[in-house]
Amino acid sequence: MEVRLQGWVRNKRSGKGIHFIILRDGTGEIQCVAAKADVPESDFSAADALTLESSVVIDGVVKADPRSPSGFEIGVTRVQPVQIAQDYPISKKEHGVDFLMENRHLWIRSARQVAVLQVRDEVIKATRDHFYEKGFICADSPIFTPNACEGTTTLFDVDYFGEKVYLAQSGQLYNEATAMALGKVYSFGPTFRAEKSKTRRHLMEFWMFEAEAAFCDFEENMRIQEEYIEYLVARVLDKCAEQMKALERDTSKLSNVKAPFHRIAYDECVKTLKDKGFEFEWGGDFGSPEETAIAESFDGPVFVTRFPTTIKPFYMKRDPARPDVVLGSDLLAPEGYGEIIGGGQREESIDELLSRIEHEGLNKSDFAWYLDLRRYGGVPHSGFGLGLERTVGWICGLSHIRETIPFPRMLYHKYP
Ligand code: 4AD
Ligand code: MG
Repeated sequence: MEVRLQGWVRNKRSGKGIHFIILRDGTGEIQCVAAKADVPESDFSAADALTLESSVVIDGVVKADPRSPSGFEIGVTRVQPVQIAQDYPISKKEHGVDFLMENRHLWIRSARQVAVLQVRDEVIKATRDHFYEKGFICADSPIFTPNACEGTTTLFDVDYFGEKVYLAQSGQLYNEATAMALGKVYSFGPTFRAEKSKTRRHLMEFWMFEAEAAFCDFEENMRIQEEYIEYLVARVLDKCAEQMKALERDTSKLSNVKAPFHRIAYDECVKTLKDKGFEFEWGGDFGSPEETAIAESFDGPVFVTRFPTTIKPFYMKRDPARPDVVLGSDLLAPEGYGEIIGGGQREESIDELLSRIEHEGLNKSDFAWYLDLRRYGGVPHSGFGLGLERTVGWICGLSHIRETIPFPRMLYHKYP
């Protein structure tokens, strides 16, 4: 079969009268063998000039080759360089992270980064397919917002024609409105948090899938989440075997991600932490060491439930049996990846919401529309938000979140 490939030179070796060109084109890599006898004279010398990451169009014949990872190679008949790259800065040798981050626009060409971005794409597609199958309607939320959803300490503000608005921390409050219109909804978009933390799990700009359902309680909300996560993982294992191999991911750790997931109450976690020697008191929030210590007692993802009311946002419904805790849950991924989903049942009482809005120092008038949702046909409802990058980091087995998004925005990194 004759083919035309258009791509970039990943690698090249030359011998007497022969060039071995590894070509990549975004869909994969293949070895192209250009023998002097098979190509026009001028093409053979053009191939001589090809350097790492030069762009090129290659015509040739597909040949079975058992030694090649793909099982095939190309017997080249034409080589037409498009542009000859000079001194491509990223080589096979180890580069420091700072250097790679400064060159992120080129770093994303490497085989590993391509694999991660392909998995990210699969997770997005799988999520959309899953929610579609389950009858959730995609109804996206705004990015410029007048109200704070997740507290006031991590807001980015923007000048909006002389008025101050914020970049959305979450689409949740709007999803609650669309859920009252459409029943079951989800949104997918970038969210922004000015988190002054330099960790492996924090981005300033990250993408979140957020689902919200009317007539849905706390327990049902967790069932929706575990079914979704089970589907996501199975889908990546099915569709991204090649990428998992490229990332040297131990997939046995993923194949046991099956619903139902474990559930553990916050109270219980406090005991576990104390037993493990943590200096942790009831009412404190978990950092990543605490999350890791809790999750390691389980062999799959685990829901932590019923957090102290004082550490969760104003919209979380208090447990009627115990107002000091909320009907909220965090889903912790295994292997030390920590929280990938936050969610819970929403408060229905206007009075309760007003007092908590006041207590958090939020501006009541910004939330007038939100309270309308309780005035006009309020119902029990619940939802959750999954951080796409943390989820991709876990599924790919990466040690840092920076590789899970094409251009990460971090505390000290906003270039390129
Ligand atoms: O737990 P969070 O703050 O929940 C919410 O925003 C809810 N309003 C969602 C909802 O119920 N609709 O954030 C949800 C998830 C976290 O579990 C985590 O995966 C991710 O968003 N996340 C981050 N990911 C990367 N960098 C950050 N700085 C993140 N902050 C949260
Ligand atoms: Mg959270």
